[in-house]
Amino acid sequence: MIQPIINPLKAPFGAEVTGLDLNQAVTPDIADTLNKALLEHIVLVIRDQDLSAHAYCKGMSVFGEPMLQHRLAFRLPDCPEVSRIINREKMRPAANWHTDHTNHEAPPKATILYARKLPTKGGDTCFADMYAGLENLTPESRSQIQTLYTTNHMEPDNPTYSATDRDAHGGGARHPMVRRHPETGRKVLYFHVSKASGIDGMPSEAVRPFLDDLLNQAIRPENTLRHHWQLGDVVICDNRCAMHCADPDYDQAEERLLWRVILKGDRPV
Ligand SMILES: [Fe+2]
Repeated sequence: MIQPIINPLKAPFGAEVTGLDLNQAVTPDIADTLNKALLEHIVLVIRDQDLSAHAYCKGMSVFGEPMLQHRLAFRLPDCPEVSRIINREKMRPAANWHTDHTNHEAPPKATILYARKLPTKGGDTCFADMYAGLENLTPESRSQIQTLYTTNHMEPDNPTYSATDRDAHGGGARHPMVRRHPETGRKVLYFHVSKASGIDGMPSEAVRPFLDDLLNQAIRPENTLRHHWQLGDVVICDNRCAMHCADPDYDQAEERLLWRVILKGDRPV
């Protein structure tokens, strides 16, 4: 198999991978190159993929072990590790900056999205480098959050979570607001703005304004990447050092469907 080509995007971070067909098994050498590229670039965009759900899932196991996602109703029946992200069935675009599944004790190391149906225009996904996000905070904010933990729950007003989902994964997981990336050793800012229902020592009504203020400080054009989707794109994001959000700017009469796979991660420390 030929080595894929990895080119940095014309953006503050991220890289495009070409010359890779995820239907083909990759050699250990190529798997190593791809994993190193993810650590270096935070987001990888693999173009022009034509994959069944099983081939997609198998291809992504190059980066880690796929884990089940917490919305039972959105899993593909014949390949449950793949979940639909869609602007239908009461699911709304996740427009706030976040990292995925923080209601789990060990949230996923990576989120992977595969474009299946796209609106005529708009519907980009944006990513933020949270190594830089931590650096962007004022010294006061950085020192304030250094030892703080969030407590995380499924959002009570999200209609896409069933009673079964809530029983299985309702939450209570506590995560440090500053975590160390288990592979690079670098510190990052880490929280989910709407799943963080509590912060140590803070009244509950103060949590969301506090997190919104941190996001305002942390996220700037110089540490964000806007991905404009093309059909067949597979985009991998390292959740341990990045946040993401969907731009809801598109015509909601048009369907936008991404297939999502998430990979098992470590307990943040
Ligand atoms: Fe997400």
